[in-house]
Amino acid sequence: MYIVLLGPPGAGKGTQSKNLAVKLGLPHISTGDILRQNVKDGTELGKQAKGIMDKGLLVPDELVAKMLDERFNNPDIKKGFILDGYPRTLPQAGTLDQIMASKGLSVDLVVYLDSSDKVIIERLGGRLVCSKCGALYHVTNMPPKAKDLCDKCQGALYQRSDDNEVTVSKRLEVYKKEVASLIEYYTKAKKLYRLNADLEAGVVLNQITDLAHKVK
Ligand code: AP5
Repeated sequence: MYIVLLGPPGAGKGTQSKNLAVKLGLPHISTGDILRQNVKDGTELGKQAKGIMDKGLLVPDELVAKMLDERFNNPDIKKGFILDGYPRTLPQAGTLDQIMASKGLSVDLVVYLDSSDKVIIERLGGRLVCSKCGALYHVTNMPPKAKDLCDKCQGALYQRSDDNEVTVSKRLEVYKKEVASLIEYYTKAKKLYRLNADLEAGVVLNQITDLAHKVK
């Protein structure tokens, strides 16, 4: 089953994708995570993307499409995936359809995680990420057991460089400019389901799981 999670920064796409991936036994593919890994590894893509990401802008389509196409060559996506962070624009939605069609695949379900600005700002201001395994925490909502250490692998927790006030506000602005056309696209395709992502994470996870079972 091929699932896309849409939603503003901080809606919980990463949190839900990671848990859903375990529940459904599917790989979690996050364009943000792949880009951050490239930045960390100092690849050519990472060098091009770093400044753009720090400004809260979108990395050029052709770079992200190439990166995704390469990721989709991995046989682990044979039974499906949870895609997080792509598409973000109408042209990207078209590109996704094209790349998938070229591999004989198509998107089954698009879940739109809707969240309020107030919640988003509070969540991103307190997000912590594990430097080793990528697990997500929040200083108050989902605190780690030991301060600044990952519960799962004991890796050091850090704050993302784009989680500062100025960049978050730019990311939200970019998101709001693009999202309406994506909603229209997937509504027309009868693939879109909207959920209230301000709710507790476990509640949202159960709702997405129910949708996945219903659509399957
Ligand atoms: P990306 O990494 O995709 O960032 P984003 O879309 O801004 O989303 P986030 O990762 O910030 O939030 P999330 O919804 O995953 O929330 P999370 O689960 O972490 O992209 C980063 C950058 O890369 C972009 O700005 C762009 O430059 C570039 N990029 C990526 N994809 C691209 C593309 N397709 N095209 C071009 N450029 C691209 O949760 C946030 C916090 O809230 C956590 O602390 C979590 O613990 C907490 N939390 C989550 N859910 C709940 C809940 N239900 N209740 C309480 N707390 C919760």
